[in-house]
Amino acid sequence: MGSMRSPARSSRGSPGVAGSTGTGSTWAGSTWAGGLRTELAALDARSLRRSVVTPSSGQDAHVEIDDHRYVHFTSNNYLGLATDARLKAAAKDAIDRYGTSVTASRLLAGSTPLHDDLERRLAALNDHEACLLFSAGYLANLGVMSALAGPGTEVFSDALNHASIIDGCRLARTRVRVYPHADMEALSSLLAESTAERKIVVSETVFSMDGDLAPLPELLETARRFEAALVLDEAHAVGVFGPGGEGTLRHFGLEAPEAIIVGTLSKALGSVGGFVSAQSDVVEYLLNKARPFIFNTALPPSAVGAAHAALDVVAAEPERRARVLALAEDLRTRLRDLGLDAGPSASPIVPAIVGTAEAALDVEARLRAGGVLAKAVRPPTVPEGTSRIRFNLMATHSEADVAAVTAALQPGPLAAGTTGPT
Ligand SMILES: Cc1ncc(COP(=O)(O)O)c(C=O)c1O
Repeated sequence: MGSMRSPARSSRGSPGVAGSTGTGSTWAGSTWAGGLRTELAALDARSLRRSVVTPSSGQDAHVEIDDHRYVHFTSNNYLGLATDARLKAAAKDAIDRYGTSVTASRLLAGSTPLHDDLERRLAALNDHEACLLFSAGYLANLGVMSALAGPGTEVFSDALNHASIIDGCRLARTRVRVYPHADMEALSSLLAESTAERKIVVSETVFSMDGDLAPLPELLETARRFEAALVLDEAHAVGVFGPGGEGTLRHFGLEAPEAIIVGTLSKALGSVGGFVSAQSDVVEYLLNKARPFIFNTALPPSAVGAAHAALDVVAAEPERRARVLALAEDLRTRLRDLGLDAGPSASPIVPAIVGTAEAALDVEARLRAGGVLAKAVRPPTVPEGTSRIRFNLMATHSEADVAAVTAALQPGPLAAGTTGPT
């Protein structure tokens, strides 16, 4: 049975670690537990508390939660591949051949020919010489930034970059200069001021909260002008952009063999895992230095098998890309017709920016009442005052699914603080 757990239901109960705080009390009565509860209550009071949502069905265009069916807009399953029969069969086949886990790091023989082949295929997307798989896109960013950055390095990071990029920089203990979102003039000025020996420019290519595309031609030109390494997070681009789903470099018709590409298998490719593709010296360096690669059990064969099948579908069925992009355009038009702010979205990620966290939760509840599952995204994930509903489209959505969004939002006023329809 799936469920949308309330914060109260999601609390974990008392593990009974009497004395662990040095007070001799039970955990529930301890200063520690009290402090955590106070912080959680503060999150509650600001409408910022998070909770897990568990469907009882798979990640399809419709999901079932607590015996209700919803049109599903919270998944990154852009091409609808996570439940595709071909991916399921490939995952099962990989399990039959290699088992359920490789139970070790790649460096300790936790590998299969499927892993090596997948790296070759992912490298080929951008004509790169090599690629390295990670257990998640999060870990790929952590690995790249923490290995490449460090003393003597300065990182120039877009203000809207993903948490995994930020965390990777923190791990590297490097100096980070944050430039205003997509502002190439500001980036140039910061680079011009820098006296760092080695510079790294890092940006998402499809921004995960606004769904806009980075100004890639300018970004590339700027990085080249200042001889900075360029790290591009293609998490939301692989499979969706480019004539063959290669990503945004191909989408913009750019050749950039020097770019370091971070990607994930867990969005359009319907599997799980992350990767970094680059020229072989970079990849060889990461293999030796990236701690999330070295000290982590490699991806299970099933995930790698599914990703192979996904790449086959991505190459063979370009109509999936066209469809998800067209549906996103349809939704943006519908939201704007309602007076809602769909931001600069140009991808299957479509925000409806409503302002306060309370307003976003109100819209989320209204959508749910109308049979639509889309989550409110609130600070700190997005800047204060830009809370939103984020809709992620899938190629397997129907036009009626998209229409269900606007039907659910009409009629009636939204809560105070929204910039939406009244
Ligand atoms: C831009 C970006 N980079 C990296 C990641 C992490 O990818 P994964 O979910 O595979 O860890 C995400 C996923 O949320 C993302 O949106």
